[in-house]
Amino acid sequence: MESDLALFRRRLLKNPRQVSAIAPSSRTLARAMTLGLGPQSGRVVEFGPGTGRFTEAILARGVPPQNLTLFELDEEFVTHLRAKFPGVTVHQAGAETAPEVMEPGVQVVISGLPLLSMPEPIRESIVGAAFKVLGPRGTYVQFTYGPRPPLPPEQIATLGLKVDRGFKVWANLPPARVYRFRRCA
Ligand SMILES: C[S@@+](CC[C@H](N)C(=O)[O-])C[C@H]1O[C@@H](n2cnc3c(N)ncnc32)[C@H](O)[C@@H]1O
Repeated sequence: MESDLALFRRRLLKNPRQVSAIAPSSRTLARAMTLGLGPQSGRVVEFGPGTGRFTEAILARGVPPQNLTLFELDEEFVTHLRAKFPGVTVHQAGAETAPEVMEPGVQVVISGLPLLSMPEPIRESIVGAAFKVLGPRGTYVQFTYGPRPPLPPEQIATLGLKVDRGFKVWANLPPARVYRFRRCA
């Protein structure tokens, strides 16, 4: 059977702009991205799960599979995710479409999307879509390899958000930082 790494590399070669990373994220980054999640976390959404490194960590935190919904564009990743995570809802669709298929009131959106490699209007529409499905106290969690938050300050302000800068995860290729976005009070 093909390993996650081999599948990831094959899809990267097929569609480098969409996959936009040289390997799946590390387990250390997956733990940092899912910090605070647990059986009582309510509904959780994941954007861009790829081979499912963050999905594994979300479920390992105790989130029930029926409370987890994934949005992934790549057809082969979707087939892989459906086989690997029974009970989890997997949409083969862009993250931007989440409000079309989900009721609001989600607690957490975990994003593995390559946000920094996307044009700013698309970044804003993806984060905007996340906050259309998130409840009033919901959190959008996003990692980035860059030195700054993955949205510029003016876009953060336009969306009415505040951002917490997390610690740097060195055990990832390349090292990454986790940011948590919430609505301003
Ligand atoms: C950098 S990879 C990350 C995969 C995984 N989260 C990880 O950390 O190992 C980005 C993933 O996002 C997916 N993707 C890119 N644009 C997307 C979009 N607009 N909506 C949903 N998935 C998208 C890609 O197909 C790919 O699986």
